[in-house]
Amino acid sequence: MPAFPNTRLRRSRQAPWARRLTQENDLRPHNLILPLFVCEGAKVREPISTLPDCFRLSMDEAVKEALLAQSLGIQAVALFPCVENDKKDDQGSEALNQNNLMCRTLGMMRDRGVTIGLIADVALDPYTTHGHDGILVGAKVDNDLTVEKLVEQALVLVAAGADVVAPSDMQDGRIGAIRQALEQAGHVETLILAYSAKYASSLYGPFRDAVGSSQATPIDKSTYQMQPTQIKEALLEAQLDVEEGADWVMVKPGMLYLDVIAHIAQHVSVPTFAYQVSGEYAMLHALSQQTNQPFIPLLHESLVGIRRAGARGVLTYGAIKIAQHMID
Ligand code: PBG
Repeated sequence: MPAFPNTRLRRSRQAPWARRLTQENDLRPHNLILPLFVCEGAKVREPISTLPDCFRLSMDEAVKEALLAQSLGIQAVALFPCVENDKKDDQGSEALNQNNLMCRTLGMMRDRGVTIGLIADVALDPYTTHGHDGILVGAKVDNDLTVEKLVEQALVLVAAGADVVAPSDMQDGRIGAIRQALEQAGHVETLILAYSAKYASSLYGPFRDAVGSSQATPIDKSTYQMQPTQIKEALLEAQLDVEEGADWVMVKPGMLYLDVIAHIAQHVSVPTFAYQVSGEYAMLHALSQQTNQPFIPLLHESLVGIRRAGARGVLTYGAIKIAQHMID
């Protein structure tokens, strides 16, 4: 590069047109995925106290929200159920009920004109009394027993209309087992979005409140979710998932793991997604409140950061807000 004054980098920053022309990365509605929490009932919009501006929605309201997302150019919603306590047990049996809340919601979405992608989470935690993602044997989640259940859960969700199944449980071998079962059942177009590098993070608290899986003492998932110290291992997880049949991979959380997103996005050929998790969203919100600064630019900057790291798309609780205020 020639030295100053031949190079003055401020020339490209002088006006909006010049800044836009030279923009290296962008954030568009099609880079956003909207997570939705669904509960029983009708016309319910129940605020989630630890996740600001987010609601547990009854199916009819969730459909409205998905249609709003669709009208804004968002291309997919990710559904999570808030299961009634009397339907939970230690095996998460309700996850396999073909008429459970998730299945009914998927059906209603399709019936009422939602044409964007429907992503269904595969994991047992919304359905278990202990809040773990799988079947406990002693104090630990048993990998192989859990994978058997997850395969069944995935098939139930796909039969109900899910376009994408997203295993978020971090068991070994689950992607391969689910892919094989989908192929055998003739579901050759079903996408698998693997939560490949999912960390045992302290940032999931508001989500656990939202789905009602929080326990009196915080749950420790570190025998299956990754240690925050790891990055090589994250790539290995993603590579294995791709070999086993994942179409897309994901890193979670997002904002605190930008290096992991970049590493995986550079080394894996399938699209890499990131999840701006509940605690990250709540942190941004708290900052905006405490410093009395507008939330949208803060949220926008955080999502641009995730895009710049290399994520193709981002799951964010702010998807609708940001799409409504899309800045070029
Ligand atoms: C569990 C699951 C979690 C999240 C998505 N799926 C929580 C956990 O692993 O305990 C967290 C998402 C968020 O915090 O926004 N299968």
